[in-house]
Amino acid sequence: MAVKILSYALLLFCAVACNATVYLIGDSTMAPGGGGAGTDGWGQYLQPYLSIPVVNKAVAGRSARSYTDEGRFNTLYTTVKKGDWAVIEFGHNDGSATPDNGRADCPGSDVATTCTVKDSTGKTIVTHTYNYYIQNAVTKFASLGVKTVVSSPTPNNGSFASGAGNRFVGYASLAASRTGADYVDHYDYVIEFYKALGQAKVNAFYPNDHTHTSPAGAKVVAQAFAKGLGCGKSTLKASLTSAGTSLPNGCM
Ligand SMILES: *[C@@H]1O[C@H](CO)[C@@H](O)[C@H](O)[C@H]1NC(C)=O
Repeated sequence: MAVKILSYALLLFCAVACNATVYLIGDSTMAPGGGGAGTDGWGQYLQPYLSIPVVNKAVAGRSARSYTDEGRFNTLYTTVKKGDWAVIEFGHNDGSATPDNGRADCPGSDVATTCTVKDSTGKTIVTHTYNYYIQNAVTKFASLGVKTVVSSPTPNNGSFASGAGNRFVGYASLAASRTGADYVDHYDYVIEFYKALGQAKVNAFYPNDHTHTSPAGAKVVAQAFAKGLGCGKSTLKASLTSAGTSLPNGCM
């Protein structure tokens, strides 16, 4: 009897917590292999700070729009299970482009706004805003029992001294507040970690360009995410390891 009760209790517990997986969704700043030789994405360095498995589904070159249009969110909707987590972070490839490059979002943060552009074959297509793509994903994940952390995009080298985020930082925050998703202001936390390290160390994190970090830089960017998670309201923070709860710097 006791054994039976115990196994039922475990079953119940497992329905909400056992084997939950965290799926990371984003661009090259998060992806395996980062933005090319000598760089790596921060998603590769998050696992030590979380006690549940981290699966990095970020893909270099993608925006909220192209990740959607390529069916990558759809694939995840068939992969995830109730209790899993999604971390969504886009912004580096979402800016306007003329002619259309297949990844530029329609400008603005209104979910109802659409744009009509010509794709690479000359065909007329309709695109949507960053908020449309991200908020749709959050809502769909929620319907599958998956909670989302919307994360603001990482700062570029050199921009960290100012601390002013680009418009996608605001859009990410808005996407979270509108949908009830959790939010990590990754941009701000990376800046905090970078300031503590100083300009010379930060410069060395960018071997090729001002966007893509070295493995050492990616590790700091992952730490900044874990710090932001621990300082925020997301219940995912209950899964931080002791390494994740003992990171330096303060809450913003
Ligand atoms: C990084 O930023 C610093 C300060 O603005 C600059 O001197 C350096 O050239 C930058 N490096 C790269 C690769 O962007």
